Amino acid sequence: MALRNIITEGNPTLAKKCRPVTVFDDRLATLIDDMKDTVIQANGVGLAAPQVGVLRRVVVVDLGEEIIELVNPKILEQSGEQDGLEGCLSVPGKYGMVKRPNTVKLQAQDRHGDWYEYEGEELIARCFCHELEHLDGHLYTERAYRMLTEEEYEELIQKEQDA
Ligand code: NI
Repeated sequence: MALRNIITEGNPTLAKKCRPVTVFDDRLATLIDDMKDTVIQANGVGLAAPQVGVLRRVVVVDLGEEIIELVNPKILEQSGEQDGLEGCLSVPGKYGMVKRPNTVKLQAQDRHGDWYEYEGEELIARCFCHELEHLDGHLYTERAYRMLTEEEYEELIQKEQDA
């Protein structure tokens, strides 16, 4: 296991559509393990393979007790709405307001190719949507209806430090 370098906004790789995973081999397992280490190290909730420069449909999401691996994920159902702050490890130092469904059910494969279904609410549902969009070359900044100003961002950081 090893940490991978996270690429940032402006890198053309982040705007490309990822290809499905068709080979479930040791190389895929290493990528997933590295992505898990990388998302923990970076204090993120989720990470998509293009963020570490790999154009494959692979995502990891930290649920707290465990980090799940989503290979070739597809949204099956979504419902409700939530409105809140979103950030991205590839867009450091920025936050924006984005509307998302409140509940998202998806199916995905694990590193062995077995299919699973996952349902997430609130932060996890938001994360599912955000990470899946990375696989199609999109960043949340395209979807945010308002980005925080530098002043609002500084206030937020200050509040977090005081908490
Ligand atoms: Ni992101």
